[in-house]
Amino acid sequence: MNFENRTVIVTGAASGMGEACARLFDAAGANVVLVDRDESGLERVGASLTRSRAVPGDVSDSALSDAAVTAAVASFGRVDVVVNAAGIILRAGAVDTDDDGWQRVMDVNVNGVFFMCRAAVRQMLQQSPDPERGVIVNFGSVAGKVVWGNQTAYCASKGAVHQITRSIALDHATDKIRVNAVCPGEIETPMLKAGRDRAPTQQDLDALAETVPMKRLGQADEVARVVAFLASEAASYMTGSLVDVDAGYTIP
Ligand SMILES: NC(=O)c1ccc[n+]([C@@H]2O[C@H](COP(=O)([O-])OP(=O)(O)OC[C@H]3O[C@@H](n4cnc5c(N)ncnc54)[C@H](O)[C@@H]3O)[C@@H](O)[C@H]2O)c1
Repeated sequence: MNFENRTVIVTGAASGMGEACARLFDAAGANVVLVDRDESGLERVGASLTRSRAVPGDVSDSALSDAAVTAAVASFGRVDVVVNAAGIILRAGAVDTDDDGWQRVMDVNVNGVFFMCRAAVRQMLQQSPDPERGVIVNFGSVAGKVVWGNQTAYCASKGAVHQITRSIALDHATDKIRVNAVCPGEIETPMLKAGRDRAPTQQDLDALAETVPMKRLGQADEVARVVAFLASEAASYMTGSLVDVDAGYTIP
């Protein structure tokens, strides 16, 4: 896919699937604006990209979304694609989720996606509609559909991301702005191992892979390629779609 002369904002760009997206768009010729709260991670990723700039900060602050859009326009002239990959997990059921934990998951996973979408659409509405004003790809999750045990806040947050995606897609369907989400299954990133009582062993990871119909964990690249497809004109007739990238996890 060719993203030459396109400008892509990627949140969560310092790790996992956000990093894989940033690398893929860079390899496809895009200008990439990297957003993450992990400044050293942003430096590491940015150092190996061709045309990028970093906007460090916390996506739960709406000022960061506005700053990322302003930086993209100042450096590269417009915002063609926004990928919202920043997110956190909390492995706790309702009774073990304290107020701060619940609020933090909502602040990052829900508010962060909403703020970035809002800032992006406001900018995209001012851009040329030829061939499209802009495209957003959000990171939902199979957890927003089928529910994983002991992750009440996380599952709720991803359900909200799905509805943010569909709501904005509907409102801007005639504006040449498309909004879709990927719903990854079990993908081998730092998040997969985070927030557990102990670091998972290879045996634990093998057992997790056994729960997937294809009997393996996914790799960040395998999701990034779907994100790039959704961001491309090849997906010109897709908006409001929640695209499972889960090796069959949601079939049963
Ligand atoms: N790994 C999985 O199995 C899986 C499955 C389904 C969905 N997802 C979703 O995919 C997305 C990417 O996850 P990943 O697995 O690559 O995780 P990851 O932990 O490897 O990367 C997440 C990135 O988001 C950044 N981030 C977190 N909170 C932030 C904040 N408040 N402001 C700015 N940046 C912040 C982190 O610093 C990190 O660089 C997330 O939205 C996640 O919920 C992951």
